[in-house]
Amino acid sequence: MNIERKKKRGWRANLLWFADAAKKELSYLQDGLLITAEGADGVVRIEALGAYQEVRQKYCDVSVTHWPDRCIAPGFIDLHVHYSQTDVIASPAQGLLPWLEQYTFPHEKRFSEIDYASSVARYFLDELQRNGVTTALCFATSHVESVDALMQEAQARRLRMITGKVLQDRFSPDGLRDVDTAQSLQQTQSLIEKWHKKDRLGYAITPRFAPTSSERQLRGCGELAQQYPDVWVQSHAAENKDEIRWVKELYPKARSYIDVYDQVGLLRQRAIYAHCVHIDGEDRDRLADVGASIACSPTSNLFLGSGFFDFAGADEAGVKYGLASDVGGGTSFSPFVTMHAAYTVALQDAGRRSHSLSPHDLWWMHTAGAAQCLGLEGIVGNLLPGCEADFVVINPSATELLKRRTTQAESLEEWLFAMIVLGDDRLISRTVIQGDDYAKVGQAYWPEI
Ligand code: GUN
Ligand code: ZN
Repeated sequence: MNIERKKKRGWRANLLWFADAAKKELSYLQDGLLITAEGADGVVRIEALGAYQEVRQKYCDVSVTHWPDRCIAPGFIDLHVHYSQTDVIASPAQGLLPWLEQYTFPHEKRFSEIDYASSVARYFLDELQRNGVTTALCFATSHVESVDALMQEAQARRLRMITGKVLQDRFSPDGLRDVDTAQSLQQTQSLIEKWHKKDRLGYAITPRFAPTSSERQLRGCGELAQQYPDVWVQSHAAENKDEIRWVKELYPKARSYIDVYDQVGLLRQRAIYAHCVHIDGEDRDRLADVGASIACSPTSNLFLGSGFFDFAGADEAGVKYGLASDVGGGTSFSPFVTMHAAYTVALQDAGRRSHSLSPHDLWWMHTAGAAQCLGLEGIVGNLLPGCEADFVVINPSATELLKRRTTQAESLEEWLFAMIVLGDDRLISRTVIQGDDYAKVGQAYWPEI
């Protein structure tokens, strides 16, 4: 046991967090102090936070790292991303289905090789951390090796990371398609037993989407979802109009795309469906009733021409949702770029109510709100005492324009908006995971602060 790790540590900077977990509103504190401590279970959590002068009195013998002019904020959560598509990013196509066929499926075949998968997993996790993303709900590929590769890398970095083997037993090329449906389900079960709840790792049952799974495979996933209620479920739904037509042909008895998943027992808490752009009120009510969530991926929906997510409709129905990059359909790993895109999309009047999302709303959707979708509220996505110690250190003066605009901000809202609209990976000076400053273990190109 590393004695050093047992120590409490202090982190002095400005603080940004959701002080009242019930409110989607950020609090900002100038010159704060955050105290972290390792628990008996080996997990480093936040023990206290508040004004530096006050908290320091209680923790006078704790060693403190001081970042003046920087702001500590919760690590971001990416609610839907494909690590296996890190190198598919920026591949243009005529919409979702041609994009899958021309770029994504051929590329994902490469993840049968564990060495290749591991090298991509390392790059991907570096990229998440460079962008301040500390937890992700992530698609692997249909290969068991692709799950092992990401889990091993995430475990070595002590990350809270969730992933799963993709299930796809039809309409997929050789080398990616599950050739034996029963085996694909057995592999899923073995991977759950191997990885779920190992350190901070979690497993997600991952049918790719309704068209590429036989009904038998989806039913098998539903049975596993019932057998393992605290395992996550992730898939895609109602992203693109051609895809929806195809699902109607394949599942003619289902009332809707969402109903396909409902009929096989895949709608429940801890089930997160990416996109849900083209769903109706009945679907929204059903998602809300069962406690399932939506991963809203605005850069992907814009890039692939999928459509505009209805934020007002989701709010009205009370469905939980959070933000996601959906790389490689999505075009950026940066939560700031995703929040900016969500703002732009919500404001469009595309035959539905346009909606001006506040910076508090946007930040919530990528941190504490995303944690709520995962059933991890109070664990990640905030800095309240008891939360795990994964946080980012923001430099609001990272670029000349950011510096110019943020220093002129006259309110917290203006300051947050400036970062959301003008920000990218350069805003993140440091990513601290479990009390380990990633700048020390990260890549050589990490910027000095
Ligand atoms: N639907 C099925 N597979 C995928 C995928 O890899 N990306 C996106 N955006 N949608 C999908
Ligand atoms: Zn996706």
